[in-house]
Parts: sequence; C-alpha cells; structure tokens
Amino acid sequence: MSAEARPPARELELEGDALRALLASASEHIVRHIGSLGERPAADTDDGAALARALATPVAPETGGSWQDLLALLFDRVITKGFGTAGPGYLAYIPGGGLPQAAVAELVAAATNRYVGVFAAAPGLAQLEADAVRWLCTFVGYPAAARGIFTTGGSLANFSAVVTAREALLGEDLTRGVVYASDQTHHSVEKAARLAGIPPARVRSIATDARFRIELSALERAIATDRKAGLQPFLVVGNAGTTSTGAVDDLAGLSELTTRERIWLHVDGAYGGFFHLTERGRRALAGLARADSITLDPHKGMFLPYGTGALVVRDGEALRRAHAGTGVYLPPVPEDDDLIDFSQYGPELSRDWRGLRVWLPVMMHGVGAFRRALDEKLDLARWATEALRATPGIEILAEPQLSCVAFGVSRPGLDLSATNALNRALLARVNQRNRVHLTATDLRGRFAIRICVLSFRTHADRVEMAIEDLREGLATL
Ligand SMILES: Cc1ncc(COP(=O)(O)O)c(C=O)c1O
Repeated sequence: MSAEARPPARELELEGDALRALLASASEHIVRHIGSLGERPAADTDDGAALARALATPVAPETGGSWQDLLALLFDRVITKGFGTAGPGYLAYIPGGGLPQAAVAELVAAATNRYVGVFAAAPGLAQLEADAVRWLCTFVGYPAAARGIFTTGGSLANFSAVVTAREALLGEDLTRGVVYASDQTHHSVEKAARLAGIPPARVRSIATDARFRIELSALERAIATDRKAGLQPFLVVGNAGTTSTGAVDDLAGLSELTTRERIWLHVDGAYGGFFHLTERGRRALAGLARADSITLDPHKGMFLPYGTGALVVRDGEALRRAHAGTGVYLPPVPEDDDLIDFSQYGPELSRDWRGLRVWLPVMMHGVGAFRRALDEKLDLARWATEALRATPGIEILAEPQLSCVAFGVSRPGLDLSATNALNRALLARVNQRNRVHLTATDLRGRFAIRICVLSFRTHADRVEMAIEDLREGLATL
C-alpha cells in the first residue's frame, strides 16, 4: 500500500480566511458579551439542571456542524446560566472577574501551542513565565533565591506547598507528621495534606479569636502535646485572608513561633496575598515575607481568568528538591540557575503556558494599575461596612481586614435559629433583585451574609446598589 492510498486528511487544518472568520466571529461574541455584563443579572440560576440535561450530548457526533450555530449556543444559552462571576455585581465567594487581556494571552498561548513543559523546548516562553513568577515573588517581598510555579489554582498551590514542606522536614517517613491550621482555613489545605499522604487525623484545627485569627497560644499548646506524644509537627498553614471573612492571621507571630519550633510556615494567600501590593495590605499582612511558602491566586487578586494560581517558595531550592525529576527521553535540564525549567518546580510536565496570562496584562498596564484596583476594593469594602453599620438592625459580624465584610440582621427576642432564618430570607431578597449576588457563611453557628469586593469591574455604584437592596430587603422582612 502506498502512502498516498487515501486522500490527505486535512479537515482539521483550519487556516487563512476560514480561521479568520472563526476568530472574528468569536471576538464579536466576546466583545458583545463583555459589553453586556453590567446589564446582565448578577446570577441566573433558575432551571440550571434542566439546561444541563437539555445540553447533554452523550455520543460524539460523527460529522461536524456549523460553528456559527455552536458559538451562538455557547453565548446564548450555555455561558449565560449560573453565577455571573465576570460581572460587576458578583460580590459572592471570592470574585476576580477575568481580565480579557489575559484571555487574549490564553488564546495566543493555545493557538501557537509551544511546549513549555521543559526549558529547551521553548526558552523564550519559559523566560517570560519565569519573569512573571519573579514578579509575584517580589510582590510578597521574597528574596532572589525564591522560586515558584503557576498552578491551576490555590488548591494545587496548597498541595505543592504541603509536598515541599513534607520533603524538607519529614523526608520519607510520613507516619508521624502533623499539620496545623486554624478552624477558618480553606478546606483545600486538609485535602492537600490528604493527597500528600498526611491523613485528616493528623491535621489539627486550631481555634480562632473574635476576629477569626488563629490563637497562637492554642497552636503552641497543640504542637507541644503532639511532640510529647512522639509525633512530628512539620507544617503550620497561616491565612492571609480567609474565605469566610478575609481574616488575616498574625503572620509575624506565626513566623516567630514556627522558626522557634523548626516548622515550615506556609501562608494561604489565595484570596488576600496580592493586597501586599498596597500600603494598607502590607500593614494587614505584616510578616508575610517571612513565610516559607505562599499560595497566591492570580485568578482572584490579579483578576485573571480561572485556572491561574501560584505557589512561591522563599528558598526556591526546597521547591525544586520536592518536585525535580526527568526521563531519558527528555532534553537535559539547564544547569544555569537563572534558566528555569518549570518541570523541576511543580508536579506537571506538559501544561499550558499559564505565565503569559500574568505577563501580558502586567506588561500592558503596569503593576500600578493592579495596585490601584486593589486599593479601590479596600475602599469599597470599608465604605460598605460603614453603610451597613449605619443601617438600623444590621450588625457587623466580621470587620473587613481586607475587602470582605460579614454581617447579619438581629432583632430583640429572636433566638439563633429564628435569626438565621431571618438572615437567610434577607439574602434571598437581595439576590432576587439580581443587581448583586451575595453569599453567606457560618460564623460559629450564625448565618452571616458577606460582601466580598474583588472584581476589577466592581465600582462604587455597584456596592451602593448592594446596600440599597439590603436596606429595601430589610424593610420588607
Ligand atoms: C483562602 C483560599 N484558599 C484556597 C482556595 C482554593 O483556591 P482554588 O479555588 O483556586 O483552587 C480558595 C478558594 O476560594 C481560598 O479562598
């Protein structure tokens, strides 16, 4: 059989005018969609399960369909349903927004599809990504020896942090290792420990104070008890902005304690870490640079599209030792310390060129634009807190330490369960209006409503709407 027995299979090779038309149409949809975000409901959650079932396509089609119809399906029906995470009214969970500049970076990276798994395959790309990692190291005040890795998010950054600490302090015997974190810590830390071979029974949940910050004395006692029992405390995870209330642990105090105890200090700054770029943030996060490692989520505090997290480690060698590995089929890893081969610093080999999503927006706008946006969020959270405080019936349950405030309604004579029901009803009314979308958390049994301001698209007008809707909702309860 000759090599030309069949006609060449060229159907997948989209180029020239056909590619141009697809890109132009996708661009048009994107520009229209982004232009409409301010007018869209803050969330559209009705009949989501029905939509999902209607969309299900269990058997892949043997032949293709019109891309015009497919793009229309995406933008008209698929993308619009659910939480409006990219919109200005999204004040729920931890927002971010998704800079379209970074989406363009993602398109460029995927369309050119160069291989960033190993340095030799794309040295220029690796260098741009290395620069972006270095910027993050400097944002948190780390020295030149620091290294880092872009991950898909905070969860995997926390995972690599546990692995790095484990390798540095436990070696191969994991059986006695113990991890400590406050009772406000994100659940990804316990999951990371489990994935890294530390069972949940060896992850201690340490009590927090009235501001939801870890109790250092309780931590010290727990470490002493474990040491007496022959266990090996090796990792403390501090918080630079908890998910529920944005609480920041006493990072300087944690650093002193962990240095004294020879324990690795990892700080989960997935939400709060980037506030270190601002003066107020640096005050709130004092001591951050003394942590051994820090999780940062550019898809939160740098407003990038989801799928962009990061881990930075003060002693970059520790990160490398925990993740290095190669095969006979791969090119050699560069020996020069200034040339970074990311496969040696994280669990992945093949991966997307995540660093470009950070690189392009920072090069386009400068760090100052990010600093000013973060400062605006701090202002807005403080303004919202004062407006809430001035609203009769509302009490602040957690003052903002960064850009998140938790609050609730209370009425004389109502017990906890009736108070919680009242707050649940208030939240539902606000969200029904759909100009903003808020979520709640549980603060020691109390149903607490939160306003978390972090989207780059959220400005004063939208936070004013949140307060208006809360006040109107309150009046109807
Ligand atoms: C404090 C904190 N840590 C970790 C995470 C997990 O990050 P990701 O969702 O990017 O995996 C989150 C997510 O919101 C978070 O708020």
